[in-house]
Amino acid sequence: MTGSLLVDNIGELVTNAPDGPGALGVRRNAALLVEDGLVAWVGPARDAPAADRRIDAGQAAVLPGFVDSHAHLVFAGDRAAEFAARMAGEPYTGGGIRTTVGATRAASDDELRDTVRRLRGEALRQGTTTIEIKSGYGLTVADEARSLRIAGEFSEDTTFLGAHVVPGEYADRPDDYVGLVCGPMLAAAAPYARWIDVFCERGAFDVDHARAILACGQAVGLGVRVHANQLGPGPGVRLGVELGAASVDHCTHLTDADVDALAATRVDCMCAEGGHTATVATLLPGAEFSTRSPYPDARRLLDAGVTVALATDCNPGSSYTSSMPFCVALAVREMRMTPAEAVWAATAGGAAALRRTDVGRLTPGARADLMILDAPSHLHLAYRPGVPLIRQVLHNGVPQ
Ligand code: NIG
Ligand code: FE
Repeated sequence: MTGSLLVDNIGELVTNAPDGPGALGVRRNAALLVEDGLVAWVGPARDAPAADRRIDAGQAAVLPGFVDSHAHLVFAGDRAAEFAARMAGEPYTGGGIRTTVGATRAASDDELRDTVRRLRGEALRQGTTTIEIKSGYGLTVADEARSLRIAGEFSEDTTFLGAHVVPGEYADRPDDYVGLVCGPMLAAAAPYARWIDVFCERGAFDVDHARAILACGQAVGLGVRVHANQLGPGPGVRLGVELGAASVDHCTHLTDADVDALAATRVDCMCAEGGHTATVATLLPGAEFSTRSPYPDARRLLDAGVTVALATDCNPGSSYTSSMPFCVALAVREMRMTPAEAVWAATAGGAAALRRTDVGRLTPGARADLMILDAPSHLHLAYRPGVPLIRQVLHNGVPQ
């Protein structure tokens, strides 16, 4: 679609500028001009320039599209029975990952593609305009490469998670599996991946294996992210900090040393030019909801000065939701985040976790990725949980 588009009569415009957690950069009675898929101008509605087309927001709130920086969308099958067993008292151990690996290996490319398209569509309708997509349910050279190839059809932020678990056929020789991941699997995956991730947890990969795998990824130019401290305390967060990870994800069980290490990565300059180079703590409350586990303590992280992101962790086992509004509501109700902190974490925080400056904000030059709410303010995302409040989404300036 060519020509300019004015989003006019905005009651509350969340710009996320100037940058900073909880500082939403709210403008009232605002307008926003889109040109060539980008935000071209933001200002008072009374000063709005002429445009080829106009959307009247009717005094509603307009926010940057959500940036979901952690999702596992390439899989087959579901694990509803495992969820039911958990709700009846079974613990979550991550053991079900191998069930999904079996189903994923047996699926055709088109079946996997259809699942990603369906979940991507769900997310978009709920305001998500940027979504990271991981592999990790293939765990062979060919299945990891095809998972990432398919992921790349839907996202620029694709993550190689060959080190999700040690697959059954390598159960008694994990060193050999690490060799496979660092060698032929990485070689096949890297052309389709921007990031590398490891599930560093008891029962998955220990810290030495995780360090080796992440270092191999870094050596071929991939950025680092880590599944860390989800099921219990452990070395994952500090490993991520040691390697300069963009994000450590889950962060459910943290020691003071973990929090201090994350806080020490915080850089004062989060300017558009330099981008955000701290290690972000990405919290995934859908996982705690769906595994009936204690939520991470977001307040503790925020009070220590750690940059926090919120994401869905959408996957068929621990968190089968694509809904960022649901995660925002959980974070406010259960994790002691203010609504403003949660909205920031789900937009600018996600962008920081992906080291992107083009999304998560509505300032001139940013992508025109935004949502118009059926509500007068961002507060309603937590105040009205479970209600479909996303009236309209623009992605690259195009109404969806
Ligand atoms: O992030 N923790 C590891 N991986 C996923 C769960 C995957 C699964 O249970 O299938 C997570 O929660
Ligand atoms: Fe995950």
